[in-house]
Amino acid sequence: MSFLLKSTPERAEVWKPLFNSALPDLAFHVWPETGDPKEVRFLAVWEPPSDLLTRFPNLEVIFSVGAGVDQFDMSAIPEHVTIIRMIEPGLTEGMVDYVLWATLTLHRDGLTYIAQQKQHIWKARPNLVATQRRVGIMGMGTLGAPVAQALALNGFNCSGWSRSRHTVPDVTCHAGPEELDAFLATTDILVCLLPLTEATHGILNTSLFEKLPKGAQIINAARGAHLVVPDLLEMLESGQISAAILDVTDPEPLPTDSPLWDDPRILITPHIASSSQTETAGRVLLDTVQRYLAGERDFPSKVDRSKGY
Ligand code: GLV
Repeated sequence: MSFLLKSTPERAEVWKPLFNSALPDLAFHVWPETGDPKEVRFLAVWEPPSDLLTRFPNLEVIFSVGAGVDQFDMSAIPEHVTIIRMIEPGLTEGMVDYVLWATLTLHRDGLTYIAQQKQHIWKARPNLVATQRRVGIMGMGTLGAPVAQALALNGFNCSGWSRSRHTVPDVTCHAGPEELDAFLATTDILVCLLPLTEATHGILNTSLFEKLPKGAQIINAARGAHLVVPDLLEMLESGQISAAILDVTDPEPLPTDSPLWDDPRILITPHIASSSQTETAGRVLLDTVQRYLAGERDFPSKVDRSKGY
């Protein structure tokens, strides 16, 4: 029985000894070395090889080394194979930091001051304090809920929207399509942390933007395909949206001729909001494999195929 890792050399360097000492009977292979492919029961990967199941016929579990699983072609992975997302404290912490930074940047008109500085303009804008700013998080799962909590702790007037209802202290939680409009109507800074599924593809579009208060601001730290770029550009022109911070684009890297690069109302970061941290993610992975080997099958990080995340 073996575990196969197809990821970065840094992760392999830390995870292999960790697994070897905790689970000496489980062979740990680092791609492209696979050992006997029939022995591979566990695969940790970002993008699986295309001939996955013919190559590893006895595969039982695929672990995503990141939070998302939208990079997997689910139709090519048989039902009996369990898919597990990465839920680990380091990745969550990174996302909390990023969204706090992006929210504070928008809250304090950071993009305007950067643009003004380039033109040597000394001009103050009226300040709001955090309690006067309403931040709405779309996607209240393992990333969205801690992000909402951190924003609330920093004084923001925070609400969340998700498919099913969550409860987070000091955060107004909305759920389901019927509560989306009410959520949007009270959101000055909209943060997208949704998983990318058929239902959420292109969700950041004109019809949604029009339901936000005029001058609302956008943060997308989820996936580029959530956003319809021409709709955002049009909304920036009309003033319905006043600024956006985008960590993700479609495609990535963002093509050098994209109009998003040069718009002073847009700040681009190159998909760095957060990623699995080697130490903490390795421990979570090991713990999950140990529990799986002990017979456990219900993990909160297990992907529900019907929902796509
Ligand atoms: C990064 O985008 C991830 O899914 O971990």
